[in-house]
Amino acid sequence: MVLVRTKKELASHLSSLDKTKGLGLVPTMGALHKGHLALVKKAISENENIIVSIFVNPTQFNNKEDLEKYPQTLEADTALLKGVSDAICVFTPTVEEIYADKVKTKLYDFEGLDKVMEGEFRDDHFNGVGTIVETLLDLVNPDNAYFGEKDFQQLQIIKKLVAIENIPVKIIGCPIVREASGLAMSSRNERLSENMRKEAAFIYKTLKTAKKKFGTESAKKVMDWVESQFHKHHDLDLEYISITDVDTLTPIQKKQKNIKYRAFVAAYAENIRLIDNIALN
Ligand code: PAJ
Repeated sequence: MVLVRTKKELASHLSSLDKTKGLGLVPTMGALHKGHLALVKKAISENENIIVSIFVNPTQFNNKEDLEKYPQTLEADTALLKGVSDAICVFTPTVEEIYADKVKTKLYDFEGLDKVMEGEFRDDHFNGVGTIVETLLDLVNPDNAYFGEKDFQQLQIIKKLVAIENIPVKIIGCPIVREASGLAMSSRNERLSENMRKEAAFIYKTLKTAKKKFGTESAKKVMDWVESQFHKHHDLDLEYISITDVDTLTPIQKKQKNIKYRAFVAAYAENIRLIDNIALN
């Protein structure tokens, strides 16, 4: 395992690689779990050379406390990555290395993709994600970059980012990895009590039934049903349920053939914000 901390070290590592064999980038903020590792394994299956970045990016946090509390577990992360492959290069820069003395967010026009759901509740979050992902793509110049459908809106925004900025990379989406209960894996799950971790499986269970209902019922009926289910569940507080067109992320008006839809949920459990989503058709 190679660990590099500076742009210079990264550049020197990159220049030692055989570029004809494919270079894959997996951007993360660390606190790695099996969801991240699935991205890494997919990257390994498609590229000979792999960079995993671990960087807690300040420009995508709109809450200072959230940023300060973000788990930093580099030793455990590198041990997990070593277990997958010894040939991975981990790039873990400091904030100063990336942003120099000015932590600045670039502003993008994501054509509305950033204005709904997570964007509606988290000001400037996606400009921050765009800023760091563009920086990483620029530094690494990979053939392929891997992102999880767990953050489906983020995935669509990154596809838009590379289109509007003309970045020559293939963005690859990977399916959501779940705990045995169905709960989508997330570093936040560690903060749930044992009992709530079981209870939170309700989110995916509800999404799965919503998918079934979507086959025969209107989107409005399905969303009302999801709301009523959460209303009955006193430990989970629904922030939003949204059914959107997968490409534009615009909320559904009337179901149309040939359009793919997805349902998205954000909910609080013990004050911890959890998100999940499911393909409906
Ligand atoms: P982070 O939350 O660390 O996630 C890194 C990648 O892992 C993202 O692409 C995310 O969608 C994916 N991921 C997380 N949990 C997953 C799961 N259960 N199944 C599948 N994929 C999962 O997302 C970020 O970091 C940051 O915004 C980043 C893109 C690194 C920019 O800072």
